[in-house]
Parts: sequence; structure tokens; C-alpha cells
Amino acid sequence: MRHLISPMDLSVEEIDRLLTLADRIIDDPKAYAHKCEGKKLATLFYEPSTRTRLSFEAAMLELGGSVLGFSSADSSSASKGETVADTARVVSCYADIIAIRHPKEGAATVAASKASIPVINAGDGGHHHPTQTLTDLMTIHRLKDRFDHLTLGLCGDLKFGRTVHSLIKAMCRYEGVRFILVSPPELRVPDYIRDDLVSGGFDFQEVERLEDAIGEMDVLYMTRVQRERFFNEEDYVRLRDSYILDTEKMKLAKEDMIVLHPLPRVNEIAVEVDDDPRAAYFKQVLFGKYIRMALIMTLLEVE
Ligand code: NCD
Repeated sequence: MRHLISPMDLSVEEIDRLLTLADRIIDDPKAYAHKCEGKKLATLFYEPSTRTRLSFEAAMLELGGSVLGFSSADSSSASKGETVADTARVVSCYADIIAIRHPKEGAATVAASKASIPVINAGDGGHHHPTQTLTDLMTIHRLKDRFDHLTLGLCGDLKFGRTVHSLIKAMCRYEGVRFILVSPPELRVPDYIRDDLVSGGFDFQEVERLEDAIGEMDVLYMTRVQRERFFNEEDYVRLRDSYILDTEKMKLAKEDMIVLHPLPRVNEIAVEVDDDPRAAYFKQVLFGKYIRMALIMTLLEVE
């Protein structure tokens, strides 16, 4: 039985197979409409979500399966004090696969250690978010057709953004990838990520101004400042509008750069950028559903 807790749980070859399967689903969705008939996905969401939860649910429904679960800790027995470990055991009696999101780092690992069905980490605190990374990789694969030798800019809250941590880990495995990390000093990537970049000899630089580096990027990954992970509101208010991507800044970028964002966006991408053909964040949402279909089929070992 396989779980997906960190993006490194999948080898590069397995990621390739998932991307190929998702491509096939896009080409012929009808052929997959009954693949998970009789199977159930449980979505255990202890933290707010729009895309990730609905994307998992839509993915399972499009495979002919069904879904159950809860969308907030308040509406589950967590509010009575039940542990994640117990909930995972209980839900194993009702469903065939679990997608779990929790504000605490490590919660998905705990769930996986007790569940008797595959567990997918749909975000654990500021740690990892592997299915967002699969979504990001799928988008890069579809729009850029390669991972090697890309210059990837990541901008915004690199400290608390779990999507950033997972994407860096995943992209480190492709040749010649260069990282440009754009953030205020307070929101730089955590030491464990920087240490990995240094010890692995990866090409990366940390800059403060997006304008200084946007022209070199093939992919720009914008992120939201993660209000819910700040210890005080003052810091959040001071840092929240550090970066706003607008048409002026887009003029400095390459013609074929693509802009990704895991969403939700708050202020960090001006609405005027949505009409720019390089804005790929809404396409990214759709690719996320297809790659999750591929992932569910793979973890359930459905042919
Ligand atoms: C991200 C998350 O939850 O980490 N959103 C998502 O899953 N699409 C990013 C965010 O909340 O800013």
C-alpha cells in the first residue's frame, strides 16, 4: 500500500508515469469515467480549502467513484478531542483512500501510520503539499514541455508556503534547473530547504526585488503571504503586499514566461494580469484535477 506524504515519495519515473496517464485522461476522459466505480475517497480537511478539496472530489467523481468527508475541524470529532490517528483508523472502515489536510506539520504522516488505506497529504501546516506540486509539474509539462534547464522564480512567502517547499524539492531532481527565490528577508525559505540547495550544489539565488530578476525566469511561481501561519498580525500587515505582479512588471518578463500560483490569490497578482496569455494559474487548476485523477487511479492500483 502506497501513501503520498512528501513529493519525494514519488520517483522521477513515477512522476513521468502520472503525467503520461493524466495526458491520456485529458485526451479521452470518457475512457476513465468508470475506472473507480464502487470506490470511495474520504476528504478529511481540518483547514480551509477550495481547490484542493473540490479538485480531489471532482477527480474521484469523474472516475465514477464517490466521496465523503468533512471540510472543517469544527464539523468533525476533532472538536470533541479525537486524534488524527483515531480518525484515520475509523475512516479506513468507510473509504478506500484518504486525502487529508491539517494545520500541523506531520499530521498526514500520523494518519498514514494508522490507516489501512492509502493516505494522500493535501497539505500539512507549512511543510509539504505534494499534490499541488504534481499540479504545478503537470502545468509546466503541458505548457513548457520540459523540466530540465528551466529558470524557476518563486516569489512571496517562501518561509511558510508549503507549495514552495514541495516544488523546490521536486524540481531539484531535474538537470540544470536554476532557482531565483524572491522574498523579503523575513520570508526567505526555511534553513532546511536552503541547506539542501547548498549541499546539493544547486544553482540558486535569493533576491528582494522581483523587477531585478523577472526577466530571467521561464516560470514565475507567485504565492500568497500565509496570514494563518504568522505569530502576529502586525508582521503580516507589514509584509502582505511585498509583491504585486502587475502589467508593468510583466513587461520586463520573457515573452514565453508562464505565471503560476497555487491560489487563492489575495493581492499578489493584479487582476489586469489575468488577460495576459502568460497567466497560467487558472489553467493550472484544471490540470490539477487531471493529475489527481491519475494519482487516485495509481494509488488504488486501478488499471
Ligand atoms: C495553497 C495551500 O493550501 O497551501 N493552496 C492550495 O492548496 N491550492 C496555497 C495557499 O493557501 O496560499
